[in-house]
Amino acid sequence: MAKASAPGKIIFFGEHAVVFGEPAIAGAIDKRIYVSAEETRAGKLEISSSEEISDGHPYVKKAVELASSFLGEDRGLEIGIETEFPPASGLGSSAAVSVSTILAISTLLGKSIDKKDLARLGHQVEKKVQGAASITDASVTTFGGLLFVKPLLETVEPIEVGKLPVVVGYTGHLGETKELVRKVKNLKERNPEIMEPIIRTMGRITVKARRLLEEGEDIGELMDINQGLLESIGVGSAELSRYVHAARRAGASGAKLTGAGGGGCMIAYSRGKESDVARAIEDEGGLAMRVLISREGARVEKK
Ligand code: PMV
Repeated sequence: MAKASAPGKIIFFGEHAVVFGEPAIAGAIDKRIYVSAEETRAGKLEISSSEEISDGHPYVKKAVELASSFLGEDRGLEIGIETEFPPASGLGSSAAVSVSTILAISTLLGKSIDKKDLARLGHQVEKKVQGAASITDASVTTFGGLLFVKPLLETVEPIEVGKLPVVVGYTGHLGETKELVRKVKNLKERNPEIMEPIIRTMGRITVKARRLLEEGEDIGELMDINQGLLESIGVGSAELSRYVHAARRAGASGAKLTGAGGGGCMIAYSRGKESDVARAIEDEGGLAMRVLISREGARVEKK
Protein backbone atom coordinates (compact mmCIF):
# COMPACT_ATOMS: atom_id res chain seq x y z
CA MET A 1 0.00 0.00 0.00
CA ALA A 2 1.19 3.53 -0.70
CA LYS A 3 -0.21 6.80 0.59
CA ALA A 4 0.20 10.40 -0.58
CA SER A 5 -1.38 13.71 0.30
CA ALA A 6 -1.78 17.20 -1.12
CA PRO A 7 -3.12 20.46 0.35
CA GLY A 8 -6.19 22.54 -0.43
CA LYS A 9 -5.76 26.12 -1.57
CA ILE A 10 -7.11 29.63 -1.29
CA ILE A 11 -6.88 32.38 -3.87
CA PHE A 12 -5.77 35.65 -2.24
CA PHE A 13 -5.98 37.85 -5.33
CA GLY A 14 -6.78 37.61 -9.02
CA GLU A 15 -9.69 35.17 -9.35
CA HIS A 16 -11.65 35.85 -12.56
CA ALA A 17 -9.04 38.37 -13.76
CA VAL A 18 -6.69 35.38 -14.21
CA VAL A 19 -9.08 34.01 -16.85
CA PHE A 20 -8.27 37.12 -18.92
CA GLY A 21 -4.50 36.82 -18.51
CA GLU A 22 -3.95 38.85 -15.31
CA PRO A 23 -1.78 37.35 -12.54
CA ALA A 24 -3.14 35.72 -9.39
CA ILE A 25 -1.81 34.91 -5.92
CA ALA A 26 -2.85 31.61 -4.38
CA GLY A 27 -1.57 29.63 -1.43
CA ALA A 28 -1.65 26.07 -0.09
CA ILE A 29 -3.46 25.62 3.24
CA ASP A 30 -2.59 23.34 6.13
CA LYS A 31 -5.56 21.08 5.43
CA ARG A 32 -4.98 18.13 3.14
CA ILE A 33 -6.50 15.29 1.19
CA TYR A 34 -4.96 11.84 1.71
CA VAL A 35 -5.10 9.13 -0.94
CA SER A 36 -4.03 5.52 -0.49
CA ALA A 37 -3.43 3.12 -3.37
CA GLU A 38 -3.28 -0.64 -3.16
CA GLU A 39 -3.13 -3.30 -5.83
CA THR A 40 -6.15 -5.57 -6.14
CA ARG A 41 -6.30 -9.01 -7.64
CA ALA A 42 -9.69 -8.26 -9.18
CA GLY A 43 -7.91 -6.10 -11.75
CA LYS A 44 -10.39 -3.25 -11.68
CA LEU A 45 -10.60 0.14 -10.03
CA GLU A 46 -12.33 0.44 -6.65
CA ILE A 47 -12.73 3.80 -4.91
CA SER A 48 -13.76 4.40 -1.32
CA SER A 49 -14.07 7.78 0.29
CA SER A 50 -14.97 9.30 3.67
CA GLU A 51 -16.71 12.10 1.75
CA GLU A 52 -17.52 12.16 -1.94
CA ILE A 53 -15.24 14.71 -3.65
CA SER A 54 -17.39 14.78 -6.75
CA ASP A 55 -20.22 12.55 -8.04
CA GLY A 56 -18.77 9.28 -9.29
CA HIS A 57 -15.16 10.35 -8.57
CA PRO A 58 -14.36 11.60 -12.11
CA TYR A 59 -11.09 13.22 -10.95
CA VAL A 60 -9.79 10.05 -9.33
CA LYS A 61 -10.74 7.95 -12.39
CA LYS A 62 -9.03 10.36 -14.80
CA ALA A 63 -5.97 10.64 -12.50
CA VAL A 64 -5.66 6.82 -12.44
CA GLU A 65 -5.93 6.71 -16.24
CA LEU A 66 -3.32 9.44 -16.85
CA ALA A 67 -0.96 8.09 -14.16
CA SER A 68 -1.16 4.57 -15.61
CA SER A 69 -0.36 5.78 -19.11
CA PHE A 70 2.44 8.11 -17.90
CA LEU A 71 4.02 5.36 -15.78
CA GLY A 72 3.44 2.69 -18.43
CA GLU A 73 1.63 0.27 -16.08
CA ASP A 74 -2.02 -0.59 -15.84
CA ARG A 75 -3.04 -2.49 -12.70
CA GLY A 76 -6.20 -3.10 -10.71
CA LEU A 77 -6.23 -0.58 -7.87
CA GLU A 78 -8.08 0.12 -4.68
CA ILE A 79 -8.05 3.85 -3.96
CA GLY A 80 -9.04 5.26 -0.56
CA ILE A 81 -9.65 8.96 0.09
CA GLU A 82 -9.74 10.95 3.34
CA THR A 83 -10.17 14.69 3.50
CA GLU A 84 -9.48 17.34 6.16
CA PHE A 85 -11.55 20.07 4.50
CA PRO A 86 -15.01 20.10 2.92
CA PRO A 87 -14.81 18.88 -0.67
CA ALA A 88 -16.47 20.90 -3.43
CA SER A 89 -16.22 24.07 -1.33
CA GLY A 90 -13.91 26.01 -3.66
CA LEU A 91 -10.81 25.05 -1.69
CA GLY A 92 -9.25 23.02 -4.47
CA SER A 93 -10.31 19.51 -3.51
CA SER A 94 -10.37 18.30 -7.12
CA ALA A 95 -6.76 19.27 -7.82
CA ALA A 96 -5.61 17.94 -4.44
CA VAL A 97 -7.28 14.56 -4.95
CA SER A 98 -5.99 14.31 -8.54
CA VAL A 99 -2.39 15.08 -7.60
CA SER A 100 -2.33 12.84 -4.53
CA THR A 101 -3.85 9.96 -6.52
CA ILE A 102 -1.08 10.23 -9.14
CA LEU A 103 1.62 10.45 -6.45
CA ALA A 104 0.19 7.48 -4.50
CA ILE A 105 0.14 5.32 -7.64
CA SER A 106 3.69 6.21 -8.70
CA THR A 107 4.88 5.43 -5.15
CA LEU A 108 3.04 2.10 -5.14
CA LEU A 109 4.71 1.16 -8.43
CA GLY A 110 8.13 2.24 -7.14
CA LYS A 111 8.50 4.90 -9.83
CA SER A 112 9.55 8.41 -9.02
CA ILE A 113 7.73 11.37 -10.52
CA ASP A 114 9.10 14.90 -10.35
CA LYS A 115 6.95 17.81 -9.21
CA LYS A 116 6.79 19.42 -12.63
CA ASP A 117 5.29 16.26 -14.15
CA LEU A 118 2.99 15.88 -11.16
CA ALA A 119 1.63 19.44 -11.56
CA ARG A 120 1.30 19.00 -15.33
CA LEU A 121 -0.61 15.72 -15.00
CA GLY A 122 -2.82 17.18 -12.25
CA HIS A 123 -3.65 20.14 -14.50
CA GLN A 124 -4.47 17.74 -17.36
CA VAL A 125 -6.86 15.81 -15.12
CA GLU A 126 -8.70 19.05 -14.27
CA LYS A 127 -8.85 20.14 -17.91
CA LYS A 128 -10.16 16.75 -19.07
CA VAL A 129 -12.85 16.59 -16.39
CA GLN A 130 -13.92 20.27 -16.40
CA GLY A 131 -13.24 21.25 -20.01
CA ALA A 132 -11.05 24.18 -18.91
CA ALA A 133 -8.95 25.00 -15.87
CA SER A 134 -6.13 27.40 -15.07
CA ILE A 135 -2.83 26.04 -13.72
CA THR A 136 -3.51 27.66 -10.33
CA ASP A 137 -4.97 24.77 -8.35
CA ALA A 138 -2.71 22.01 -9.68
CA SER A 139 0.41 24.16 -9.15
CA VAL A 140 -0.47 25.21 -5.61
CA THR A 141 -1.40 21.73 -4.44
CA THR A 142 1.77 20.24 -5.96
CA PHE A 143 4.40 22.82 -4.95
CA GLY A 144 2.77 24.26 -1.80
CA GLY A 145 3.55 27.71 -0.38
CA LEU A 146 2.27 31.00 -1.73
CA LEU A 147 2.52 31.35 -5.51
CA PHE A 148 2.36 34.20 -8.00
CA VAL A 149 0.60 32.74 -11.03
CA LYS A 150 1.32 34.01 -14.54
CA PRO A 151 -1.45 32.50 -16.64
CA LEU A 152 -0.21 33.59 -20.06
CA LEU A 153 3.19 31.96 -19.55
CA GLU A 154 1.67 29.07 -17.56
CA THR A 155 4.35 29.56 -14.90
CA VAL A 156 4.34 30.17 -11.16
CA GLU A 157 6.83 31.95 -8.90
CA PRO A 158 7.05 31.33 -5.14
CA ILE A 159 6.44 34.33 -2.87
CA GLU A 160 8.48 34.20 0.33
CA VAL A 161 6.33 35.07 3.34
CA GLY A 162 6.36 34.38 7.05
CA LYS A 163 3.41 32.88 8.90
CA LEU A 164 0.20 33.93 7.16
CA PRO A 165 -2.89 33.11 9.25
CA VAL A 166 -6.23 33.35 7.49
CA VAL A 167 -9.81 32.65 8.51
CA VAL A 168 -11.89 30.92 5.84
CA GLY A 169 -15.68 31.23 5.93
CA TYR A 170 -17.57 28.53 4.03
CA THR A 171 -21.18 29.13 2.95
CA GLY A 172 -21.96 25.41 2.81
CA HIS A 173 -22.59 25.39 -0.92
CA LEU A 174 -20.47 25.91 -4.01
CA GLY A 175 -20.97 28.50 -6.71
CA GLU A 176 -20.84 27.05 -10.22
CA THR A 177 -17.37 28.09 -11.42
CA LYS A 178 -18.16 27.51 -15.11
CA GLU A 179 -21.38 29.51 -14.87
CA LEU A 180 -19.73 32.43 -13.04
CA VAL A 181 -16.82 32.57 -15.49
CA ARG A 182 -19.34 32.71 -18.35
CA LYS A 183 -21.33 35.43 -16.59
CA VAL A 184 -18.22 37.62 -16.29
CA LYS A 185 -17.32 36.97 -19.94
CA ASN A 186 -20.80 38.06 -21.07
CA LEU A 187 -20.70 41.17 -18.90
CA LYS A 188 -17.32 42.02 -20.43
CA GLU A 189 -18.63 41.51 -23.96
CA ARG A 190 -21.54 43.86 -23.33
CA ASN A 191 -19.42 46.50 -21.51
CA PRO A 192 -15.81 46.18 -22.66
CA GLU A 193 -14.88 49.80 -21.97
CA ILE A 194 -15.99 49.38 -18.32
CA MET A 195 -14.94 45.80 -17.65
CA GLU A 196 -11.46 45.93 -19.14
CA PRO A 197 -10.20 48.61 -16.73
CA ILE A 198 -11.74 46.72 -13.79
CA ILE A 199 -9.97 43.53 -14.77
CA ARG A 200 -6.69 45.37 -15.35
CA THR A 201 -7.06 46.96 -11.91
CA MET A 202 -7.50 43.53 -10.34
CA GLY A 203 -4.18 42.59 -11.98
CA ARG A 204 -2.54 45.70 -10.55
CA ILE A 205 -3.86 44.85 -7.08
CA THR A 206 -2.26 41.40 -7.39
CA VAL A 207 1.10 42.85 -8.43
CA LYS A 208 1.04 45.37 -5.56
CA ALA A 209 -0.07 42.69 -3.08
CA ARG A 210 2.95 40.58 -4.01
CA ARG A 211 5.26 43.45 -3.12
CA LEU A 212 3.47 44.11 0.20
CA LEU A 213 3.57 40.42 1.11
CA GLU A 214 7.29 40.22 0.38
CA GLU A 215 7.86 43.30 2.55
CA GLY A 216 5.73 41.87 5.37
CA GLU A 217 3.16 44.66 5.01
CA ASP A 218 -0.60 44.43 5.52
CA ILE A 219 -2.64 43.33 2.50
CA GLY A 220 -6.03 43.97 4.13
CA GLU A 221 -6.78 47.18 2.29
CA LEU A 222 -6.05 45.59 -1.07
CA MET A 223 -8.30 42.64 -0.20
CA ASP A 224 -11.14 45.07 0.53
CA ILE A 225 -10.66 46.90 -2.78
CA ASN A 226 -10.53 43.58 -4.62
CA GLN A 227 -13.76 42.49 -2.92
CA GLY A 228 -15.47 45.66 -4.15
CA LEU A 229 -14.36 44.93 -7.70
CA LEU A 230 -15.46 41.30 -7.48
CA GLU A 231 -18.88 42.53 -6.36
CA SER A 232 -18.94 44.95 -9.29
CA ILE A 233 -18.46 42.12 -11.80
CA GLY A 234 -21.35 40.18 -10.31
CA VAL A 235 -19.70 37.26 -8.52
CA GLY A 236 -20.54 38.22 -4.95
CA SER A 237 -23.47 36.95 -2.90
CA ALA A 238 -25.47 38.30 0.02
CA GLU A 239 -24.10 35.55 2.27
CA LEU A 240 -20.47 36.20 1.33
CA SER A 241 -20.96 39.94 1.89
CA ARG A 242 -22.43 39.30 5.33
CA TYR A 243 -19.40 37.21 6.34
CA VAL A 244 -17.02 39.78 4.84
CA HIS A 245 -18.58 42.67 6.78
CA ALA A 246 -18.82 40.62 9.98
CA ALA A 247 -15.14 39.70 9.68
CA ARG A 248 -14.13 43.33 9.20
CA ARG A 249 -16.25 44.41 12.18
CA ALA A 250 -14.56 41.75 14.30
CA GLY A 251 -11.15 43.20 13.52
CA ALA A 252 -10.00 41.60 10.26
CA SER A 253 -7.71 43.94 8.38
CA GLY A 254 -9.27 42.82 5.10
CA ALA A 255 -11.77 40.29 3.77
CA LYS A 256 -12.94 39.09 0.38
CA LEU A 257 -14.49 36.15 -1.39
CA THR A 258 -12.03 33.56 -2.67
CA GLY A 259 -12.32 31.51 -5.85
CA ALA A 260 -15.24 31.69 -8.22
CA GLY A 261 -17.71 33.34 -5.78
CA GLY A 262 -21.48 33.01 -5.90
CA GLY A 263 -21.16 30.75 -2.81
CA GLY A 264 -18.13 28.76 -1.79
CA CYS A 265 -15.77 30.57 0.57
CA MET A 266 -14.51 33.96 1.71
CA ILE A 267 -11.21 34.69 3.45
CA ALA A 268 -10.27 37.19 6.14
CA TYR A 269 -6.79 38.36 6.98
CA SER A 270 -7.00 38.77 10.70
CA ARG A 271 -3.57 39.40 12.28
CA GLY A 272 -4.13 38.21 15.84
CA LYS A 273 -7.93 38.52 15.75
CA GLU A 274 -8.53 35.04 14.32
CA SER A 275 -10.81 33.79 17.13
CA ASP A 276 -13.02 36.89 17.06
CA VAL A 277 -13.23 36.82 13.27
CA ALA A 278 -14.04 33.09 13.20
CA ARG A 279 -16.80 33.61 15.78
CA ALA A 280 -18.26 36.53 13.81
CA ILE A 281 -18.44 34.40 10.65
CA GLU A 282 -20.09 31.53 12.56
CA ASP A 283 -22.62 33.98 14.06
CA GLU A 284 -23.63 34.81 10.48
CA GLY A 285 -24.18 31.09 9.78
CA GLY A 286 -20.88 30.29 8.06
CA LEU A 287 -18.49 27.46 8.78
CA ALA A 288 -15.24 29.09 9.92
CA MET A 289 -11.87 27.40 9.51
CA ARG A 290 -8.60 28.85 10.75
CA VAL A 291 -5.84 28.01 8.31
CA LEU A 292 -2.18 28.78 7.77
CA ILE A 293 -0.46 28.99 4.45
CA SER A 294 1.53 25.80 4.25
CA ARG A 295 4.91 25.46 2.57
CA GLU A 296 4.26 21.80 1.99
CA GLY A 297 2.82 20.70 -1.29
CA ALA A 298 2.16 17.14 -2.38
CA ARG A 299 4.06 14.53 -0.37
CA VAL A 300 4.36 10.80 0.12
CA GLU A 301 3.00 9.66 3.50
CA LYS A 302 4.35 6.90 5.70
CA LYS A 303 1.81 4.12 5.76
O1 PMV B 1 -13.54 28.39 -7.19
P1 PMV B 1 -12.26 27.94 -7.77
O2 PMV B 1 -11.23 27.60 -6.76
O3 PMV B 1 -12.42 26.89 -8.82
O4 PMV B 1 -11.60 29.23 -8.48
C1 PMV B 1 -12.03 29.70 -9.71
C2 PMV B 1 -11.12 30.79 -10.11
C3 PMV B 1 -11.48 31.44 -11.44
O5 PMV B 1 -10.53 32.46 -11.65
C4 PMV B 1 -12.86 32.07 -11.36
C5 PMV B 1 -11.46 30.45 -12.60
C6 PMV B 1 -10.09 29.92 -12.96
O6 PMV B 1 -10.05 28.89 -13.69
O7 PMV B 1 -9.06 30.52 -12.62
